[in-house]
Amino acid sequence: MISNQWYAVLDANEVRGRRPVGVTRLGQRLVFWRDGARRVACFREACPHRGAALSQGRVLGGNLQCPFHGFEFAADGHCVCIPANGRSAPVPRAFEAYRLACREAHGFIWVWNGAPSEAAEPIPWFDSIDARFSHATLRDLWPVHYTRAIENQLDVVHLPFVHHNTIGRGQRTLVNGPFVRWEPGAGTARRMNIWVYNSHDEGRPPHRAEELDPGARHPSLQFQFPNIWHNWIGDNIRIVAAFAPIDDENTMLYVRFYQNSVRLPLLRQVFNGLAMPANALILSQDRRVVVRQVPKRTHLRMGEKLIQGDGPIIAYRRERDELIPQSSA
Ligand code: FES
Ligand SMILES: [Fe+2]
Repeated sequence: MISNQWYAVLDANEVRGRRPVGVTRLGQRLVFWRDGARRVACFREACPHRGAALSQGRVLGGNLQCPFHGFEFAADGHCVCIPANGRSAPVPRAFEAYRLACREAHGFIWVWNGAPSEAAEPIPWFDSIDARFSHATLRDLWPVHYTRAIENQLDVVHLPFVHHNTIGRGQRTLVNGPFVRWEPGAGTARRMNIWVYNSHDEGRPPHRAEELDPGARHPSLQFQFPNIWHNWIGDNIRIVAAFAPIDDENTMLYVRFYQNSVRLPLLRQVFNGLAMPANALILSQDRRVVVRQVPKRTHLRMGEKLIQGDGPIIAYRRERDELIPQSSA
């Protein structure tokens, strides 16, 4: 995992109501809950007292209460009450829950993979998706390392094969380029822009990336480190995916259909919902192949025999390998 980055880890709708939610993300058991002001908070799930799962507790007066001995924790992690010591007894700082910096934005919950005191960077996002867009979300658990799930969405070579009867229809097997350009993203997380030029094979070799010029055209695909992706279907229709790392062998995919043509609240909900079966089908076509790839986790120098069309995957691996030491990948 890359340190000091904001990761989209949950859909905001997964933490609603008064019940704390326990999940594994970024290789850790975590608990998410909302305080009295409905702000989302995130702790390591294990209670600092004797390791009970805080997700089995409850929210009481805006604090999270452990199910075992009733210690109460404020959203900043501070333990505010140890019932066995008496409500009036002061609580030493050492009883703090381990807090992770956490924010809610764009309908996702984001966790900072690093010290909370350093979580000053802006949340990464695709600015062309503004408040006029509405969305529907599909959640899909993939038993793969997150690198494989991300690389699948940067892979433009697979389209006519994996998706031969859906988005890859038309036998455009020749992969020109693709053209890749990096740009600054939010904070230190860079954004990869990819322009796709797949075409029919008419007997000539594919154009190299240097021979292509996207001009002012918006990139077909964008990947924003560490874990969000954007597919520009058209000015009014987009697909966004977040790849939430669970552990070394599992990733939760959040795939969203965004549109800004239908804006009436109920109507847009129906419209967005209607797009989901097609997205689910396309995702299931990817999943079938990706879950069987070996090895599970990728690196820049891992011995795969890559081709020109794999350029975006190489670019992703190069950037990621620079951002993290191999040992913690
Ligand atoms: S284990 Fe949580 S209060 Fe004791
Ligand atoms: Fe695909």
